[in-house]
Amino acid sequence: MRIDVVSIFPEYLAPLELSLIGKARQDGLLELNVHDLRDFTTDRHRTVDDTPYGGGAGMVMKPEPWAQALAAVAAARPEAASAETEASEAAARPVLIVPSPAGERFTQATAHELAEEDRLVFACGRYEGIDERVMEWAAGHFTVRPMSLGDYVLNGGEVAVLAMVEAIGRLLPGVVGNPESLVEESHSDGLLEYPVYTKPSSWRDREVPAVLLSGNHGKIAQWRRHQQYRRTAERRPDLLTEFDAAKLPRADRTAFSDLGYDVVDGHLRRRPDAGAEQS
Ligand code: ADE
Repeated sequence: MRIDVVSIFPEYLAPLELSLIGKARQDGLLELNVHDLRDFTTDRHRTVDDTPYGGGAGMVMKPEPWAQALAAVAAARPEAASAETEASEAAARPVLIVPSPAGERFTQATAHELAEEDRLVFACGRYEGIDERVMEWAAGHFTVRPMSLGDYVLNGGEVAVLAMVEAIGRLLPGVVGNPESLVEESHSDGLLEYPVYTKPSSWRDREVPAVLLSGNHGKIAQWRRHQQYRRTAERRPDLLTEFDAAKLPRADRTAFSDLGYDVVDGHLRRRPDAGAEQS
């Protein structure tokens, strides 16, 4: 995969040289290029912003530097491209991800979807955002996807890009050493992950749950599943409405019943009489 990031703060993306993503780049599993938007300006002051039409607070990013930067990036070819991949890339446009609190929600499912792409381009907006006409123009060259990390406002897209590139990059083949660890993690099955413990088994008068020391793999798997149900019901009950409960074994239905949920038409329904502690 090739990733390009355009930003007025290229140094902000330095952490992508570290840890698993840095290693993936060194190993040639991921090609990642960071570009300074100001390199695509033409005035002496390298201006990237101006006042908003219609008035209001803050500044808006000017369209032309963005068009110049994105056109240059779109024209670039991955280092590893062969004639064959060039032909298939001509068919598949790069995805342009524009981090914004006004975007669609970035989830684990989005990370999996984007990990299948050959080319991703991230456009980091600052100030009040990028002139909207850039999105219209870019739609002729890219599949444009404004993306939000969550319902809060960051100062710019860079932090969101760090998060998205890490979430996507770790799904690329070979990036995470043990692919098993991708299977049993939060959100991989629509539930939060179960709690984990390591040695010593007794620490500051706190014991590791006995079942984990039992060596009974069936019991351990069931305990972990039920812990996932409990955690998700307590912390993210919104996830349970989407959970496919049609094929749950009896013991799991009982576990959900103890948490105040019944299975109705294959879906979990919170019992109206269930305690108020998990609203
Ligand atoms: N830029 C500013 N806020 C953001 C958010 N919540 N998600 C993605 N990009 C952003």
